[in-house]
Amino acid sequence: FEDFKIMATASTVPERIVDNNELSTMMPTSDDWITQRTGIKRRHVATTETTSSLCLTVATKLLAKSKLNASDIDLIVVATMSPDYLTPSVSAMVQGKLGATNAIAFDIDAACSGFVYGMHVVKQMLMANQQKNAILIGGETLSKLIDWQDRSTAVLFGDGAGGVLIRNTSAASGSFVSEKLKTLGELGDNLTAGQTGEPSPFVSDQTPRSPFFKMNGRRVYRFAVKNVPESINEALAHAGMTVEDVDCFVLHQANQRIVERIADELAVPMSKFPINIDEYGNTAAASEPILLDELVKQQRIKRGDVIALSGFGGGLTVGTMIIKY
Ligand code: ACO
Repeated sequence: FEDFKIMATASTVPERIVDNNELSTMMPTSDDWITQRTGIKRRHVATTETTSSLCLTVATKLLAKSKLNASDIDLIVVATMSPDYLTPSVSAMVQGKLGATNAIAFDIDAACSGFVYGMHVVKQMLMANQQKNAILIGGETLSKLIDWQDRSTAVLFGDGAGGVLIRNTSAASGSFVSEKLKTLGELGDNLTAGQTGEPSPFVSDQTPRSPFFKMNGRRVYRFAVKNVPESINEALAHAGMTVEDVDCFVLHQANQRIVERIADELAVPMSKFPINIDEYGNTAAASEPILLDELVKQQRIKRGDVIALSGFGGGLTVGTMIIKY
């Protein structure tokens, strides 16, 4: 059984910042409403950036931080629900532009749980000893999936990318402690986005497809506050641990109130649940790696800390990964 180590973390967001007041000039909403219901104050929105360009920036930073060459990378996985194209994958575009000629690359989509699902996939591939150095990135430009007339979703989302470089190394102390992933496809209709393609002439329903988010916010909220604590408890129980053993809970940033409810449910103080949704909004698969990178930079997460990464969202999906950093 090999060990794994997160060698580096990195993140990036588009330069353009759109705050709640600017949104209030575009649709009937207010800074008060958005702040009270979600904790969001501003979000970064792509102007020239794309999902692949954000992910390439993250990959380049990861190489520099871990002092590796592009040719040292064996695997590149991008978790995204907002790729540039259906093909080529974002990860293949990153692989090509990075010149990572020894790496295989593919995308996965588990919406806001994408980073945790990606960790699972990368872990399995490293365990099979097929690869040594893996890059996992969560990257999104959700702004292109937003109907900017629809205040019920437009205020929630933002753009960005974050990632980790994971190495399979017998010299390191194990990084992956345990995990619990779950998919509830029967609830999928409660959160949809990015319907693709145009109806062919043979299709009976010629209604144009819609790229935009449609969400039953209340239902997703209830799903999250029930399923995330369960997922965290089950992942911890599997490792013979309790919430007391966790130094930091790195949760998907969808809504500050959801994080507060989850902390309450687990009877853990909010000081162990860092928040950055005020700055970025909900960036789906990018939210956990962006937060993780900030916490590592601020030294709020240190080597040896036990962290619980937990995501939830479209699918519907939920997942927790317990990691010793
Ligand atoms: N500004 C002002 N008023 C608004 C806005 C807005 N931006 N949006 C909705 N409203 C109004 C509604 O029209 C409604 O008015 P009405 O009472 O006159 O009908 C009122 O505010 C309340 O609306 P609700 O939707 O009931 O508000 P709620 O308290 O449920 O908050 C929210 C909505 C923030 C979306 C919440 O339900 C939530 O966070 N849900 C979870 C969503 C989530 O996490 N989604 C991401 C999943 S991640 C992924 O996979 C992408």
